[in-house]
Formats: sequence, C-alpha cells, structure tokens
Amino acid sequence: KTVGFKIAIDGPAGAGKSTIAKRVAKELGFIYVDTGAMYRAIALYFLQNQIDTSDEETVREALNGIQVSIAYENGEQQILLNGENVTGSIRREEVGNMASVTSAYPAVRKKLLSLQRELAASADVIMDGRDIGTCVLPKAPLKIYLTASVKTRAKRRYEELTEKKIPCNIEEICKDIEERDYRDMHRDVSPLCQAEDAVLVDSSDMTIQEVTDAIVGYARERQAKA
Ligand code: DC
Repeated sequence: KTVGFKIAIDGPAGAGKSTIAKRVAKELGFIYVDTGAMYRAIALYFLQNQIDTSDEETVREALNGIQVSIAYENGEQQILLNGENVTGSIRREEVGNMASVTSAYPAVRKKLLSLQRELAASADVIMDGRDIGTCVLPKAPLKIYLTASVKTRAKRRYEELTEKKIPCNIEEICKDIEERDYRDMHRDVSPLCQAEDAVLVDSSDMTIQEVTDAIVGYARERQAKA
C-alpha cells in the first residue's frame, strides 16, 4: 500500500538535482532517494569485474551476481553493492559515464525498478533520476523537470572539480555532458524526458536557495490540495 506524498525530480546530469532534492527533503521532512546511485553501483560492479558491457547477454548474466540495497546513516542514503558500502566510490566521472551507458539495458532498469517503487511506497519521498515522473512514480502528485544550459552545468562541474583540486578541462566537461545528455535522452527504454504533467524549472540563472524555495512552494501548494 502506498502512503505519503511523492515528489519526482528528473533532469539531465549536472542540473543540480541531488543538491536541490537533499535541501527540499530537509525542509519538508521527506526522505531523499537518489536513484542515479543505484545505476552507478551496478556500473561500478561492471568496471570492477571487467564485464564486457557492449554485449547485452553478458550484462544480463552478470546482473545475477549483483545485489543493490539502500541504508540510511544520519538521514543520508548509503548504497550497498553486494553488502559493501560503495557510496564514496560511485561518484567518479568514469562510473557516471558507465552508468549512463549500462542504464540503457532493459534488464538493468528492470532490476532497479521494484527497489525504487518499494522505497517510495512507505514514506514521504523526494526521488531524483531520469525516469521518475515518467516511469517509476507516474502518479506522483508533484513532478519537477529540473534543467540548466550545458554551459551553466559545465561551469558548475568545473568549479566543483577545481575546488577539489582535480585537474579538468572545460571543453572536455562540455563534451561529456553533451554525450551523456544524448545517451540518456535517446535510449529506447525510459529515456529522459519531461513528463506531461511536470513543472519545468530552469536553474541556469537561479541560486540553489531560489530553486529549493520554488520546489518547496509547489510541494506545499499541492499538499494543501491533496
Ligand atoms: O544522476 P546520476 O548522474 O547519478 O546518474 C547516472 C546515470 O544513471 C545517468 O547518466 C543515467 C542513469 N540513470 C537512469 O538511467 N535513470 C535514473 N532514474 C537515474 C540515473
């Protein structure tokens, strides 16, 4: 049985979904569910075990050896791959790119769908990803499509990496973002797109607080009506 209020946030890589969703969750007392982390955990397994991800059958077989689960530590989502906490190691660029490639396989998506729906069924949640409003939670009372220009997203990423003293190049970051957008939007199963009933939020010229306030506002409005 489904209880609670659901917020679905979808959008391209680097639009600020997780930063915003965490803040909104805090303000509303909701649980934040990061579905990208689940795709990343599977991608990490493929990388670590040198699975030939160009072959669909190989990928499907490898999935039998993977168990992804979620735990919460001080309210923060932890992602477990076969029982091991991989929350830190899935953030790498290489893992994100691999997740974008392997999330196109129907078997990979199918494996995660029931876990995502179970997590949403028991509480007030704000869930982010690419297909939450269109596929995972089609009845969510509030759907947000959060985007920003490629230039803005690349600049934010550049600043984030530079701050961490990770050498990077803005042109390369732009190219990576464009490639990832293209893959996520053009795959056959559950591609990234704005749900018909989603509110479009373009964060290119907005601060984190402005975006958070806007979404919290929509949520309060819809909750009052529900
Ligand atoms: O949001 P992220 O960067 O952590 O996601 C990594 C990749 O996982 C993304 O490029 C596509 C895939 N993904 C997906 O296909 N569906 C989701 N709901 C979330 C992520």
